[in-house]
Amino acid sequence: MKGVILAGGMGSRLMPLTKVTNKHLLPIYDKPMIYYPLQTLMQADIKDILIISGPHHAGDFLHLLGSGKDFARPNGKRIKLTYEIQDEAGGIAHALGLARDFIDDDDCTVILGDNIFEDDFGATIQNFKKGAAIFYKEVSDPARFGVAEIDKAGKVLSIEEKPQQPKSNYAVTGLYVYDHKVFEIIKDLKPSGRGELEITDVNNAYIQAGQMQAHEVEGYWSDAGTFESLYKASSLVRNKN
Ligand code: G1P
Repeated sequence: MKGVILAGGMGSRLMPLTKVTNKHLLPIYDKPMIYYPLQTLMQADIKDILIISGPHHAGDFLHLLGSGKDFARPNGKRIKLTYEIQDEAGGIAHALGLARDFIDDDDCTVILGDNIFEDDFGATIQNFKKGAAIFYKEVSDPARFGVAEIDKAGKVLSIEEKPQQPKSNYAVTGLYVYDHKVFEIIKDLKPSGRGELEITDVNNAYIQAGQMQAHEVEGYWSDAGTFESLYKASSLVRNKN
């Protein structure tokens, strides 16, 4: 299992905080934002982690995180960090496509650099066999997210990206596990209405193939891409400390 952190994008919803730096370097309480998704991957004992960011601040991530020698997994062993540049903003699935050579024939856990989780997903990620897995959480404002329609047995039927009329209150969080077939799916994707390759289209392809597992997030979860969610994420972390 390898890990990928997606830390690109312009962070335009957070201007002017993101005028001279990258969103994922902003503070969430007492640490830079990217420490939290990194921690989520390290907890799952993932050693090899790729950080994908835009061209303007890639050097800042390197200064902050280096080779990974200062970050330890639960077994005390270090991680190994690799860096990749996404030249143009083309969506989450486009960014993930850049990880193809790094992942090779392995499985991958992908996390959005602005997603802050309380849970330890180690067991679920280590037990992953094939297909894909998503992690969902009940929220009061589902229209901001990918929204999952889930039946009584816990099977996910479909996902809609930022629907005007959400079919449920289950937001699909920015944590995904895929087998290496994900790169075949990305190759065949067409840009959405907003001109991006959508991770929701990748997930729907796995659903249609009957290869998607869905897990409910138990602890807190927040994204941090808007002023409100950035503030909320900091409060959640602070109140836990
Ligand atoms: C992205 C995904 C969305 C997901 C969200 C989680 O949206 O497209 O499906 O629910 O991350 O943070 P974005 O925040 O990039 O608009």
